[in-house]
Amino acid sequence: MNAMKIVLAAVFLSLLIAPVLGAEYVGSDRCKTCHKDIWEDFMKTGHPYKLRPVDEARQGNEEFGIRKVTELPNGYTWDDITYVIGGVWWKTRFVNETGYIVTGNAVQYNLETGQWVPYDPDEVAKPYNCGKCHTTGYNEDGHQDGLPGIVGTWAFPGIECEACHGPASEHVANPTEVKPEVDTSSALCGKCHVRGDPSRIPASNGFIKHHEQYNELLASPHKDLSCITCHDPHKSVKNPMVDDAIKMKCEQCHGDVAKEFAESEMAKEGVECTDCHMPFAAKSAVKRAEFEGDIRSHLFRINTDPSAPMFTDDGKYTAGGYLTLDFACLYCHTDKDREWAAKYAVKAHKFEEEEPKPTPTATATPTPEKTATPEQTPTKEKQKPTPGFEVLGAVAALLGAIYLLGRRR
Ligand code: HEC
Ligand code: HEC
Ligand code: HEC
Ligand code: HEC
Ligand code: HEC
Ligand code: HEC
Ligand code: HEC
Ligand code: HEC
Repeated sequence: MNAMKIVLAAVFLSLLIAPVLGAEYVGSDRCKTCHKDIWEDFMKTGHPYKLRPVDEARQGNEEFGIRKVTELPNGYTWDDITYVIGGVWWKTRFVNETGYIVTGNAVQYNLETGQWVPYDPDEVAKPYNCGKCHTTGYNEDGHQDGLPGIVGTWAFPGIECEACHGPASEHVANPTEVKPEVDTSSALCGKCHVRGDPSRIPASNGFIKHHEQYNELLASPHKDLSCITCHDPHKSVKNPMVDDAIKMKCEQCHGDVAKEFAESEMAKEGVECTDCHMPFAAKSAVKRAEFEGDIRSHLFRINTDPSAPMFTDDGKYTAGGYLTLDFACLYCHTDKDREWAAKYAVKAHKFEEEEPKPTPTATATPTPEKTATPEQTPTKEKQKPTPGFEVLGAVAALLGAIYLLGRRR
């Protein structure tokens, strides 16, 4: 081969490689200077903290409302832990010094209850193969930090800006000439908020499994909406410091329903659209009650047939793209049953009984307003009750309401 050919080949090769080399992951800190507001919002979400080296997790990020991880599984010291998985909103799991996930009978910490629960107690050496959804710039080859238990490598742990916008070194060097990717489809979020085949919805132990918002959305009446029609992609729905993460509310598209519902007794008691249409039918860490997990559903549609099944016979999938009345109503109305709910649910959103029949069963929360339609008993009357039995009734109804509302969180 002569020299000329070698030079030409080298030039040709470098041209081929240049765009690849140029597109490198630089990390979210590099975006802060020019996109300060977005960066500050993003730092309040769970995304960047999803997987953290142990020291960072123990430090937390108080400024942005992110807790310090102080819990440590029994029998371990901090030196035995390399990475902390989550521990932001639902549960904490740990990666040990060789890169395997800590498994056993009391190794997962549930934030809501402060309890240690089992995680795969039968698996002794469980590889950390979760990087696809928990890191940025993931590559399934190799072992991050040379730890044999970790499957693959990454540019950054956690979900950084570039997990959604692609490697942005060229943009940082030349912001106006080179634009990063902006994918507005729900498939973007569906790369991670998904479980298995998105055309069905896996379940177990009486709940929809977690991280399957994409599967649910596709089965719902909102399949043509994008996640970001409702969500601001840079804002947290979990962080109490943030209250405008949902940029498009139900009322904005369903004005007529909202108007009708506003007249109902429940609306006056503070019940919201999401309480029935996005109940906690999915579970990540904690089962709060028989029909209440700890993750809101994105199925939206309620099946008002009291005999409709929520799950397939083997319990492994949802039976359809809907919620049953036990998940939509009975997690609040714990002393009622599906038949009761069905009577009121058919006339959404007034929640009056369709054919008023005398109810034979005594209810735990006496409701004096049963004798009148909700419109005729404005809430004011509850605050200034008339003497006698009605006082007792109203007090009981109020206590019931406080109890039911208390159950909402
Ligand atoms: C030196 C300043 C600077 C830095 C650093 C910077 N950007 Fe930008 N970015 C800009 C400017 C300016 C624009 C607007 C360009 C325009 O619309 O002409 C922009 C636009 C964008 C857009 C929108 C592109 C579009 O098509 O609308 C995204 C997404 C983005 N930046 C992401 C990032 C990420 C991620 C980082 C960090 C890895 C980053 N930027 C770092 C200056 C910067
Ligand atoms: C690379 C994987 C990945 C992608 C892509 C992704 N997410 Fe997430 N998301 C996660 C993980 C993992 C968590 C859990 C992190 C935590 O809170 O500990 C999460 C948590 C969330 C949460 C709850 C936590 C909070 O602070 O509010 C919301 C809401 C959310 N994601 C919305 C979205 C939306 C909308 C998109 C698309 C624009 C998206 N995500 C794209 C992986 C991803
Ligand atoms: C979970 C995915 C996700 C993450 C993480 C993320 N973005 Fe975005 N970003 C989006 C999506 C989706 C859009 C398009 C929003 C739209 O069109 O409404 C967007 C839009 C933008 C825009 C265009 C202007 C705007 O506000 O719509 C900029 C700039 C931007 N992102 C910068 C960043 C920076 C900087 C970070 C990290 C601090 C970041 N993004 C993290 C998904 C993400
Ligand atoms: C297909 C993507 C995906 C894979 C694979 C995945 N996760 Fe997640 N994980 C998510 C998403 C998305 C969330 C948050 C949303 C939700 O739970 O509904 C989450 C949440 C979590 C949380 C709770 C975070 C918190 O702050 O409370 C933990 C812990 C967790 N995952 C551990 C794991 C472990 C361990 C593995 C691997 C064995 C794994 N995940 C594999 C997507 C994934
Ligand atoms: C951006 C507009 C938009 C927003 C925001 C929105 N929806 Fe919808 N919704 C739609 C559209 C469009 C349909 C489909 C209508 C159809 O198929 O007839 C729909 C359908 C529905 C249905 C099923 C209707 C039926 O006939 O079975 C329910 C239930 C529903 N939405 C509830 C909600 C709730 C609850 C929220 C808030 C969490 C919400 N929607 C937010 C646009 C929206
Ligand atoms: C107390 C529970 C509850 C609340 C709160 C609630 N809904 Fe519904 N909604 C239902 C039930 C049950 C149905 C099913 C009715 C049917 O299929 O006949 C329904 C049906 C719907 C439908 C489809 C049928 C229709 O009437 O168009 C839409 C859209 C809807 N709701 C939106 C909303 C919105 C928006 C809000 C908040 C303003 C809201 N709902 C509040 C229980 C509720
Ligand atoms: C019709 C509007 C709408 C659409 C579309 C939508 N969401 Fe949501 N999402 C919401 C609302 C409302 C909440 C509850 C916010 C709250 O608790 O304050 C929520 C909550 C969440 C949560 C937190 C769940 C929990 O219980 O903590 C995650 C994660 C999430 N959405 C991800 C997604 C993803 C991913 C998509 C697309 C596949 C999506 N959402 C599509 C309205 C929507
Ligand atoms: C977030 C909790 C919550 C959910 C979910 C909920 N409710 Fe209610 N409901 C309440 C509260 C609070 C009241 C007011 C106190 C009372 O009257 O008992 C109420 C009152 C009622 C009443 C009027 C009281 C009566 O006995 O006449 C009916 C009927 C009713 N709900 C039906 C339903 C149906 C049907 C569903 C599901 C489609 C549902 N509720 C979902 C909290 C809830």
